[in-house]
Amino acid sequence: MEKKRIFSGIQPSGALTIGNYLGALKNWAQLIDEYDCIFSVVDLHAITVRQDPKELNERCLGLIAQYIACGIDPEKCTIFIQSHVPAHAELSWILNCYTYMGELERMTQFKDKSSRHADNINAGLFTYPVLMAADILLYQADLVPVGHDQKQHLELCRDVAERFNRIYDDTFKIPEGYIAKMGARVMDLQNPEKKMSKSEPAGSIALLEDIASVTKKIKRAQTDSLGYVKFEEGRHGINNLISIYGAVTRKTADEIENEFQGKGYGDFKKAIAEALVAELEPIQAKYQELMNNKDYLKSVYTSGADRAREIADETIRKVHQKIGYIER
Ligand code: TRP
Repeated sequence: MEKKRIFSGIQPSGALTIGNYLGALKNWAQLIDEYDCIFSVVDLHAITVRQDPKELNERCLGLIAQYIACGIDPEKCTIFIQSHVPAHAELSWILNCYTYMGELERMTQFKDKSSRHADNINAGLFTYPVLMAADILLYQADLVPVGHDQKQHLELCRDVAERFNRIYDDTFKIPEGYIAKMGARVMDLQNPEKKMSKSEPAGSIALLEDIASVTKKIKRAQTDSLGYVKFEEGRHGINNLISIYGAVTRKTADEIENEFQGKGYGDFKKAIAEALVAELEPIQAKYQELMNNKDYLKSVYTSGADRAREIADETIRKVHQKIGYIER
């Protein structure tokens, strides 16, 4: 039987946090044996907000290296840079003509980003979900691992694909969301009701964070005055620490509660910091090694783009034929 296909991507728009790692990359690394995985560095998406050219360039390469350092073995999956496959922009234009303004106006991320970047509400920011739909549909993906904040975009992708399929009969596979069994939603360490974000340095830990700083930030993480380790409604700080520790060690909340029965937050934080450091150190070492081997990284993203282009071009051919375009 053919493997089911998975597509996902991360924007090269800032440093990855342990939230990206525990919520996405660590789980992706476990999918590559069972599925045909295609992972992209979505640099076309990144320019919907202003990027410094030199930083963007470095971040794209750094993201490829971080994918691999996290265990996403390019021998077992496809890793590529979105702008290297022109079909993304092509299909995105076409799908724009099958997406309604009203649908895009409802996207909460657009409303949020346009209020935060009021000086640059560009058309790309508005049609961003259409590009994301093109990413997924080009590869006829079965499953798309996405975080909570991307569910609405995936819903739109399905709606647009179903609409296109209704007009021209079956063209696109309708993708499903993939909710990882162990995927953690990591919250800000200082403000645990908010998702961890790199723009809040005190409350976030970068994947490439200096090790001393990892320990310091865990020790300073917000808790509460109850003094015992137990996952309970409303205990945002403790719940977040339990889910971080659980995602790192693959222990369940029950196991963690037992492990720290009768112990205080000091012991708990010490264990979290140690586990996290033990997890991050080899990733950081591997990252450094990869960044010293640019030729290898280039061979990964060029052969990744070759394979991606092959699949994507086949979908473009099919779409053009359905629409009635003259064959190239
Ligand atoms: N929009 C996603 C995000 O910001 C990134 C993304 C782009 C993506 N294209 C995708 C995720 C396709 C999954 C599938 O997180």
